[in-house]
Amino acid sequence: MKITFATAAPEPQPRLQARIVDQAALPSGLGRVVVEGATAARFAGKAAQLFETFVERDGALVRLALVGTGERSGNGRQESLERSGAALVAKYLTSGEERLLLDLNSTAMAGREAASFLLGARLRGWRLDVYRTKLTEEQKPTLKEIIVIGAPPGTDEVWETEAAVAEGVEFTRRLVAEPANTIYPQSFVAQCRERFEGTGAELIVLDEKEMKALGMGALLGVAQGSAKPPRLMAIRWNGGERGQKPVAFVGKGVTFDSGGISIKPAAGMEDMKWDMGGAGAVAGAMLTLARRKARAHVVGICGLVENMPDGNAQRPGDVVTSMSGQTVEVINTDAEGRLVLCDALTWTQREFKPSAIVDLATLTGAIMISLGSEYAGMFSNDDDLAGKLDSAGKTSGDKLWRMPIGAAYDKLLESPIADMKNVGPRFGGSITAAQFIKRFIENGTPWAHLDIAGMVWADKPGTTWDKGATGFGVRLLDRFVRDNLEN
Ligand code: BES
Ligand code: MN
Ligand code: ZN
Repeated sequence: MKITFATAAPEPQPRLQARIVDQAALPSGLGRVVVEGATAARFAGKAAQLFETFVERDGALVRLALVGTGERSGNGRQESLERSGAALVAKYLTSGEERLLLDLNSTAMAGREAASFLLGARLRGWRLDVYRTKLTEEQKPTLKEIIVIGAPPGTDEVWETEAAVAEGVEFTRRLVAEPANTIYPQSFVAQCRERFEGTGAELIVLDEKEMKALGMGALLGVAQGSAKPPRLMAIRWNGGERGQKPVAFVGKGVTFDSGGISIKPAAGMEDMKWDMGGAGAVAGAMLTLARRKARAHVVGICGLVENMPDGNAQRPGDVVTSMSGQTVEVINTDAEGRLVLCDALTWTQREFKPSAIVDLATLTGAIMISLGSEYAGMFSNDDDLAGKLDSAGKTSGDKLWRMPIGAAYDKLLESPIADMKNVGPRFGGSITAAQFIKRFIENGTPWAHLDIAGMVWADKPGTTWDKGATGFGVRLLDRFVRDNLEN
C-alpha cells in the first residue's frame, strides 16, 4: 500500500474518498443526505465504524466512506486509530478501487494521530498473493494507493518513521509466511543481504565450518539431520555513540521444525514453517532501525537451522557439547529451539559483549496454553529490563506478560549423564525452557526471553493484520529502542 501526501486532490479525483469522523459531530459540508443517511444507519463515529454512501459532486460519482475513530482522549487512542485505518483498508482492499483519497481537512487530529491511522491502514493492506494464480477479478486486491490531503502539520515527518516500522513488519511477515521450501537458512540470509543492501547495516554470517570451529555442538546437532546447511547471522546497526556497547536481539530461526527423530504428528505440522518467527522479527526490527537511522547500537542475531529426521539426525539420548562448554543430553529432538539459541547466545556474548540481551523464540506450545494469542510470555533475570520491555509492549501493541523463573524450576533440568537435559517435565514447559536458556547467560547480563509461539501466526484477521503472519515483535523491539536507547 503506497501512501502519499498532497496539498490538493489530484485531477481526475479518485472515485473513492474517505473522511474521518474523530469528533462527536460529522465534518461540515457533507450535505443533508449524507448526514441523515449516516444517522439513519446508526453511524456514530465509533472506532473502526464505517459508513459508505454515494454522492454526486460536480457531475461525478463519489464513493464516500466515513470512518469513525472513537473517543479522542484516553488510553487506547493509538490502538483505536490504527484499528480504524485498518478497517478502512480491509473494507476497500478488494473493492475494485485502486486509489483512495483520504481527506483529513476538518479533523481535529494531531500529526502523530494521523500517522497512527495511516500505519494501521498500511499494515492491514499487506498480504501474500504470489502463490495464487487463480484469484478471480473480485478476489484480487485492487487498492494500491492512499492519497492524503489536508494532513495535520507534522504528519509527513512522523510518517517517515512509521513507514520504516511498516517496512520492517512487512519484511518479517514475508519471511514468516513463505513456506520452508523457499525460506531455509541460506535463503533467509540471501533475503536479508538483499534487503539490507545500502542501508548501512553490517551483516556477519557464519557457515557450518566456522560454527564447528567455534564448538557450536548444540546448534549443529539440530542441523545435522537436514540437507539444508545452517547459518548464524548477525545484523549490526551502529547508530550510537562510539564505543557504546550494543543491545542484542537474538531470534530462533528454525526454518522448519519437523521435530526431528522425536517427530511431530502430521496434523498441523505445516505450521512449523513459521518456527523462524523469532529470527524473522529480529531481521524486520533491524530493518526498521536501519531505515529510520536509529541513534542506537543494536545487533540482531538469527540462529538459522532446519530440524529434520534423516539418517544422520541426532537421536534422543545423544549428548552434545555447546559452545559454552556445557553439555546437554538431548532427551527430545523436538526441543530444538533452545539448542539453537544456547549457541547463538554464547556467540553473541563473546563476539559483541552486549549490555543487554532480548531473545525471541517460538519456543513452546505450552506458552499458548498459558497465554493464548494475546500476550507473549516474558522471562527475565532483570526487573529493570523487564519493566522497559513491558511498557514497550503496551505502547506498541505487541503485548508481553511476565512469567516466573527460579531455582526450583531450574533443578528440573538435571541429567543423569550430562550437565543438563534439554527438556523438563510436561508441566511448566515454557518455564523450564526459559531456565535452560538462562544457563547460557554469562556474568548476570540483563536478559529477557520472549516466548512468542502464540503471536507469530493468526488464524483470523486481527487489528492490523489479515490472517497469517502478524509481524509480531518488530514494533515491540523498535519501541524498546526508541524509548530506552535513543537520545
Ligand atoms: N516450535 C515448537 C514450539 C511450537 C509449537 C511453536 C506450536 C508454535 C506452535 C518447539 O520447537 C517445540 O517443538 N516445543 C516442544 C517442546 C517439548 C518437546 C518439550 C513443545 O512445545 O511441545
Ligand atoms: Mn520443536
Ligand atoms: Zn521449534
